Amino acid sequence: MKRVDLAAYGIPEEVAHCVEVDDVDAPGPGEVVFDVIAFPVNPADVAFCTGSYRLKPPLPATPGAECIGRVAATGSGVATVKPGDLVINLQRENWAQRRRVPAKDVIKVPAGIDLKQAAMLRINPPTAALLLSDIVDLKPGEWVIQNVANSAVGRLVITIAKRRGLRTVNVVRRNDVFEELTALGADACVLDGYDLAQHVTRATGGAAIRLGIDAVSGEATTRIASCLAEDGTVCTYGAMSGQAPALSTAELVFRGISLKGFMLGRFLARRSADEIAALYAELAEDILRGAIHAPVDSIYPIEEIKTALIHAQAGGRNGKILVTPNAPL
Ligand SMILES: NC(=O)c1ccc[n+]([C@@H]2O[C@H](COP(=O)([O-])OP(=O)(O)OC[C@H]3O[C@@H](n4cnc5c(N)ncnc54)[C@H](OP(=O)(O)O)[C@@H]3O)[C@@H](O)[C@H]2O)c1
Repeated sequence: MKRVDLAAYGIPEEVAHCVEVDDVDAPGPGEVVFDVIAFPVNPADVAFCTGSYRLKPPLPATPGAECIGRVAATGSGVATVKPGDLVINLQRENWAQRRRVPAKDVIKVPAGIDLKQAAMLRINPPTAALLLSDIVDLKPGEWVIQNVANSAVGRLVITIAKRRGLRTVNVVRRNDVFEELTALGADACVLDGYDLAQHVTRATGGAAIRLGIDAVSGEATTRIASCLAEDGTVCTYGAMSGQAPALSTAELVFRGISLKGFMLGRFLARRSADEIAALYAELAEDILRGAIHAPVDSIYPIEEIKTALIHAQAGGRNGKILVTPNAPL
C-alpha cells in the first residue's frame, strides 16, 4: 500500500515522500482496519513535517492528524462498527491508504455524509465549537472577535456563533473575502493592522467584547487584545505568523487582559468518552444537513503529496487541500 513518510524534518515538499510499504495486517481482537478515503492538509500537518509541531516522532514518520475512512475488516469483539461503515480516526498517521487501529479510536459517522466535509470533521469543527463555549461564558447578543477569520476554523466560528446568537467581528488580511464571510453570517469584517481597535469600535458601535480568538500570534495577539473590554480574554490557538503570542504590558497590566491557550486534545480530555462521541455526533449531523461547511480548493491523489503540500502552504487559497489516497471522490 502507499503511505506518506517523512525522511527527515524540514521543508515539507522536500521531506515528504509517497512510498510503497507492506499492507497493514488483518485486525486483531478489538481492532479495525479501514481504507482512508480522504484527508486534509492542515497547518498542524505542515508544522509536523517541518518538525515544529509538539509531536516529533522518530523517523521515518507518517503525518496525518485526521481523515475519513471506510471500515474494511474488524477483529473479534468489535461491536461498534462493521465493514462498510464510515469512520473518523482519533489516532494520527493517517496519510496512508489503509490504517489498523483500536476500535475504541474510531467514531462512526452517518452513511450519506459529504465525504470531503467528513474528512475535516475531527479537528476544526470541535475546535470552533469549544473556542466559543469553554473559554468565556458568553451570552446571546455578545460580540466575539477573531483573526484568521477566513480559515476553516474561522468560518466555522462564524457559523456556530451565529447559531448561538453571538455576533462576530472577523479580522482578515485581505478584503476580497469580506463578501463571502458576510454571506456566511459574519456581523463585521475588518482588515488587520495597527489601527484595528478603531475599526472594530466603529464596526461594533463600541460594544464591550470579552473574548478574542487568535490564531496569528506575534504582535497580532496584542492587536486582538486592544479590541477587548478591560479584563477580557484572548485565547490563542494557532501561530500562522510563526511567532509566539505577544501581549503588551499595556494590555496585560494596565487593562487586565488575560491570555489563554487552546489545544483541542486538552479540552476534549476534560470530557468523557460519551460526551466526546455526542459532540462528534452533533457535528456530523450538522455536516449532514449542510449547517456547517468548509470550502475545498483542490484534491490531489496521494502520489502528488508534494504538490498538495506546496499548495497547502500558499496564501490566497479558496479552501482546504484534500488528498484521496485510494479512489478519487
Ligand atoms: N489549537 C488547536 O487545537 C487547533 C485546532 C485546529 C486548528 N488550529 C489552528 O488554527 C489555525 C487555522 O487552521 P485552519 O485549518 O482553519 O487553517 P486553513 O483553513 O488552512 O487556513 C489558514 C488561514 O491562515 C491565514 N494565514 C496564513 N498565514 C497567515 C499569516 N502570516 N498571517 C495571518 N493569517 C495567515 C490564511 O489567510 P488567507 O485566507 O488570507 O490566505 C488562511 O485563512 C492554524 O493556526 C491551526 O494550526 C489549532
